[in-house]
Amino acid sequence: MKNSTHNPKEVTGRQAAQLVKENMVVGLGTGSTTAYAIKELGRRVAEGLKMLGVPTSYQSAFLAAGNGIPLTTLDEHPMLDIDIDGADQVANFVAIKGGGAAHTREKIVARSARKFVVVVDESKMSALLNHTVPLEVIPFARKLVEKEVEELGGTTEVRMGVSKDGPVISDNGNFILDADFGAIHDPASLDIALSQCTGIVEHGIFMNLDVVYIGKKDGTVEIMEM
Ligand code: A5P
Repeated sequence: MKNSTHNPKEVTGRQAAQLVKENMVVGLGTGSTTAYAIKELGRRVAEGLKMLGVPTSYQSAFLAAGNGIPLTTLDEHPMLDIDIDGADQVANFVAIKGGGAAHTREKIVARSARKFVVVVDESKMSALLNHTVPLEVIPFARKLVEKEVEELGGTTEVRMGVSKDGPVISDNGNFILDADFGAIHDPASLDIALSQCTGIVEHGIFMNLDVVYIGKKDGTVEIMEM
């Protein structure tokens, strides 16, 4: 599909929002690409679309509320019809997420959805994952996690705030450590290994994406389905 705007993030976000149908319960991801999907959903709600949103962060909750999207919770709606979210890097239907420190709630919402749709611009697509992996870490466990990651062959850096002195504090009150493993040839094994580390609440490797919407500079969107 060709679009009049050539901002790849906007094009892909808005197009993925068309997947939402009447009465769906929808996971609302975090980040600048999903923000376009949320705004498009707000526009459709104003036109009469009935839907409920489950936000993955304060950012998406504020944006959804500001755009008139009625919100609900996983307590009230434990199973979602669809989740639309961005990513920092995608290769072979595996994503690295958490550039906005929201990956823990994002993963909970993604796992609660029948369909997980990732929206990215083409710069995020890669043959091989090599982006740093965000880790949400209980502050008390920081040193232990640094050691655990080292044993897995990685190095870590505590993410620092912008417009805030000291570390980033996640929406859940934890630190974010960015772990560098270089090229990740076996994301499935790293997914399991990081999940087994003590002190890591959640990591940013997302396996088994269902659909990827890729916004191109020429205004087209490529859709890849698992
Ligand atoms: C939030 O923590 C992230 O997982 C984002 O979804 C990811 O960083 C993509 O963000 P952009 O769409 O802003 O690139």
